[in-house]
Amino acid sequence: MMMKMNAKKAALSAVIAAALMASGAYASDKTEPRSEVYKKKYSAQFESWHATGESEEIVDMLEEVPELVVLWAGYGFAKDYNAPRGHMYAVADVRNTLRTGAPKDATDGPMPMACWSCKSPDVPRVIEEQGEDGYFSGKWAKGGAEIVNTIGCADCHVKGSPKLRISRPFAERALETIGTPFDKASRKDKQSMVCAQCHVEYYFEKTADKKGFVKFPWDMGTTVEQMEAYYDAMDFTDWTHAVSKTPMLKAQHPGYETWKLGVHGKNNVTCTDCHMPRVAKANGKGKFTDHKVGNPFDRFEETCASCHTQSKEFMVNLTEERKHKVAELKASAEKQLVHAHFEAKAAWDAGATEKEMKPILMDIRHAQWRWDYATASHGVAAHAADEALRILGTAVDKAANARLQLAQLFAVKGVKQPVALPDISTKAKAQAALGMDMKKMNAEKEAFKKNMLPKWDAEAKKREATYK
Ligand code: HEC
Ligand code: HEC
Ligand code: HEC
Ligand code: HEC
Repeated sequence: MMMKMNAKKAALSAVIAAALMASGAYASDKTEPRSEVYKKKYSAQFESWHATGESEEIVDMLEEVPELVVLWAGYGFAKDYNAPRGHMYAVADVRNTLRTGAPKDATDGPMPMACWSCKSPDVPRVIEEQGEDGYFSGKWAKGGAEIVNTIGCADCHVKGSPKLRISRPFAERALETIGTPFDKASRKDKQSMVCAQCHVEYYFEKTADKKGFVKFPWDMGTTVEQMEAYYDAMDFTDWTHAVSKTPMLKAQHPGYETWKLGVHGKNNVTCTDCHMPRVAKANGKGKFTDHKVGNPFDRFEETCASCHTQSKEFMVNLTEERKHKVAELKASAEKQLVHAHFEAKAAWDAGATEKEMKPILMDIRHAQWRWDYATASHGVAAHAADEALRILGTAVDKAANARLQLAQLFAVKGVKQPVALPDISTKAKAQAALGMDMKKMNAEKEAFKKNMLPKWDAEAKKREATYK
């Protein structure tokens, strides 16, 4: 009863907020989404924040590793997936990816509003104006003209102030769940918590009262096993695999969770210590926090060398070595998983039953979740290489276990081994093997960019012109 009343009230306030917004009389008093406003007042921070735009290179991960197309078959990531780049590109990249499709109007799919949640300070603005119910309702395209400013000051700061804040209520709830509400946290803790608003594992809730809300799956803890148990306990699946029919999980980017398990996380060396060091001002008058969030080795003297005596060359080489070790085990897991998906398909084709397949699919689900968890924690080889290797080891083990059970099943069903793989030697070949019509998808996306984006930008400009 309580719940119903709250939902009703929230819906009503969302309607009122929307009406006020339409009349131009309402803007959030807690969030200024336009970072440009601070260009003069905080020029050193502004300029360095703006310089995240220098990290502009787009690396197409599906070209680099075509196996990914198979691993994500039936899910958006098989269409398009690039490595992360500078914060300045967050909105542009989510608009341009094939994953968000080519919606023709505000109610058209495929993605929900939640997909904007880690891209922009317009997210907290709209939540403040419409409530979470209002913000999270509807399709991604509904937010096109609202969510337009890239990751900026208001994502991490109280309006007009150097004070740090958590700008998203779902992140605040999650941090409370694991023990430390933001306002009780130390200054050091806060320096990582602001990043934990986005660089974490999350999913979209499907409960009766919270449809499509972003939630961090931390109720049982933040290790890969604890989150896996959490998802399993509620039978959560992100999608059904198009080849093996496995009920899959997609890991997001649990960087905060894996950082905690590394030697720096354990010593509370914060994200800020390495990615946003304090540096001398150009005019020599004092220091400021460098807001060019990027590669810590670019400012070695102010990052690593502020605590360590080794040379830059030594530290870079050590990190490269760790990256190679992680990449090697990652590739083994990918290879095992690709085989497991096609072998599961062969088993289904040979008449295997749901009952026979269930334990096998469970192993594939867990193996891929763990592989994804380790590799989507960007920077994990630098943050916690031993944890990444441990997790990838369990992924290989579980995939091998699935394949062992499949081999036993093949003996019973008279399936000839080895099960052949299609040609997946390039991104294009892998997508063709899965029957994906990339030509159509790309053409629709181009039309969307040409027709829809200018409309969104024009509408946003009109709205922002009413701000003080
Ligand atoms: C509002 C969400 C959000 C917050 C807060 C946030 N990030 Fe990010 N970060 C992203 C997204 C999204 C990307 C990928 C952008 C792209 O590729 O378009 C990214 C990219 C990055 C990258 C890759 C940059 C590059 O040049 O390759 C680093 C490093 C990074 N973030 C570190 C941090 C750190 C450290 C913090 C905290 C001080 C932080 N981020 C806070 C969302 C966020
Ligand atoms: C990803 C999160 C993030 C974003 C985005 C961000 N800041 Fe910061 N900001 C920080 C952190 C972390 C600190 C250091 C806090 C500390 O020292 O404990 C900081 C410190 C500051 C300070 C205090 C003085 C100093 O240099 O240490 C100012 C002023 C400031 N930021 C302004 C801005 C402005 C203006 C923008 C937008 C152009 C911005 N910040 C964007 C996280 C962010
Ligand atoms: C704020 C201080 C601080 C900063 C900045 C810092 N570290 Fe550390 N580092 C530590 C502490 C504390 C430990 C653990 C205790 C020890 O070994 O002295 C550690 C341990 C290490 C170790 C040994 C443990 C391991 O992982 O094998 C390496 C290597 C290392 N750091 C590399 C780096 C690199 C590379 C950077 C810059 C990107 C960096 N550190 C930045 C404080 C820091
Ligand atoms: C001890 C220093 C250190 C700390 C602490 C640290 N990082 Fe990193 N981070 C690095 C290094 C070094 C790299 C790898 C740079 C390279 O590619 O050579 C990296 C890479 C990354 C990347 C991947 C960038 C890319 O383009 O692939 C992201 C994202 C990231 N870190 C976010 C974070 C977040 C969020 C935190 C806190 C939860 C954090 N880092 C804490 C040193 C650190």
